[in-house]
Amino acid sequence: MKKFYITTPIYYVNASPHIGHSYTTIVADTIARAMRTSIGENNVWFLTGTDEHGQKIQRAADAQGITPQEFVDKVSLVFKNLWKELNISYNDFIRTTDERHIKVVRRCLEILHAKGDIYLDTYEGWYCTPCETFWVESQITGQVCPDCNRKLEKITESNYFLKLSIYQEWLIEHIKSHPGFIKPEIRRNEVLSFLAMNKLSDLCISRPKERLNWGIPLPFSPDHVTYVWFDALINYISAVGDFDDAGVYHSDWWPADMHLMAKDILRQHAVYWPIMLRALGIELPKSVVAHGWWLMNDSKMSKSTGNVVSPLEMTGKFGVDAYRYFLLRDVPFGLDGNFSEEAIVKRFNSDLANDLGNLVYRTLTMIEKYFNGHVPVFSGVYTGRAAEIDAKILSLDKEISSCMGNGDPSFGQALDAIWNLIGMANKYVEETKPWNLAKENKTTELEAFIVLLTRVIRNVVYHITPFMPKSAEILTEQIGSEIIRKGNPLFPRIDTKSAH
Ligand code: MSP
Repeated sequence: MKKFYITTPIYYVNASPHIGHSYTTIVADTIARAMRTSIGENNVWFLTGTDEHGQKIQRAADAQGITPQEFVDKVSLVFKNLWKELNISYNDFIRTTDERHIKVVRRCLEILHAKGDIYLDTYEGWYCTPCETFWVESQITGQVCPDCNRKLEKITESNYFLKLSIYQEWLIEHIKSHPGFIKPEIRRNEVLSFLAMNKLSDLCISRPKERLNWGIPLPFSPDHVTYVWFDALINYISAVGDFDDAGVYHSDWWPADMHLMAKDILRQHAVYWPIMLRALGIELPKSVVAHGWWLMNDSKMSKSTGNVVSPLEMTGKFGVDAYRYFLLRDVPFGLDGNFSEEAIVKRFNSDLANDLGNLVYRTLTMIEKYFNGHVPVFSGVYTGRAAEIDAKILSLDKEISSCMGNGDPSFGQALDAIWNLIGMANKYVEETKPWNLAKENKTTELEAFIVLLTRVIRNVVYHITPFMPKSAEILTEQIGSEIIRKGNPLFPRIDTKSAH
């Protein structure tokens, strides 16, 4: 049986979600919805969640004077509420403080420790006491903290390490022999050249408890907690399965078909994670897909830069679906894009109010005016422009599935194809001049014309459903099966003069 398991990163709860987080989740939602239509509702599993351990979070909780648990409960709810507002159809929401997750992480640690892939060693590095941050030699210059510029202290501590280096050749081979494993191509090449130029050093997977308390205790050392990335990556398997007594992992959903993220965390997903799985004897995910960044005035939108925009502010202004549409349409998947409200307004007015909105509104108005709100029937053959539109409707399905499939979603292209059809239909209205047909009592021509436009709209609605689920629902109501129910225009034009 065909199944499709898709994941987003689990987001840190040290700050509220911004546009960047919402983008990944909206992309995943759109793919999940499209896949449900193509392989069946019950064959798709869409996982998201929150990453709740580690120093950043402990510090954020301290700053608010509450316990880390109280803090993570509060912020994970902010994420859940946002996903509700954005109409995100996730099947499961995992939190790294969930008992089911902690249990699997501890089991993974035990298995790897027993196998000899995890070993104890001394860890040397530079520590910034005020920032409570650990730096390795390659990250610093002149023994000062890259964050606060204060003097660093050299420290040596005992920690546990995961053997990465022994798996390096195997990983290179796996990436080379599975061209679809890392996508897009440009990211795959980056990972391959990183692996070719650098010898992997083993990964430090613990932190001493005296330095960091808020983490999953190592099952074999009371003095350590698990490093947050080792803990976090395991969410993808802890959410959908468990180990049996013999240490064999079982799951109905694993392997994941697509891990989706931005390029900032590709290395963790394309290097550490496959090695962890390999060491655990678990199958690898089918694909790791990294998109670009949303920028504000050319710099990455992030909490630390302080240039974040709240998704709720945008949906409040433009509506949820216009916001989803903008993110999915405006930037080619994989590339960076600059965010601005002007760009949303432009898209809104041209694509939604003008192209789609007009087509729907004028068609519904004509059905009311010429056919008393009843969609007529026509079973003849189309010629000329109408035949071209007819053919385009038929080919759209194929065009779209070739854009959305293969784990390399080209949303822009899928939406381009839909908007091409809308454009053709609007042109057809202008050329046909239906008001003349009505005047001249050319009823059959008018019926043929309206039937074709209705079909265009129904097809468009069908295809925009994964992108703009709520609007598709409303449009489906309006264009009903026999009688139309024209409501208000769905995307009333935004007056740019008064907006400024
Ligand atoms: N907790 C880790 C992920 C662990 S997954 C096992 C983490 N969290 S995060 O909150 O920092 O989220 C990073 C992810 O958020 C990015 O990979 C991307 O999906 C999304 N984005 C955050 N800022 C972004 C942009 N400015 N632009 C696009 N996506 C961005 O890393």
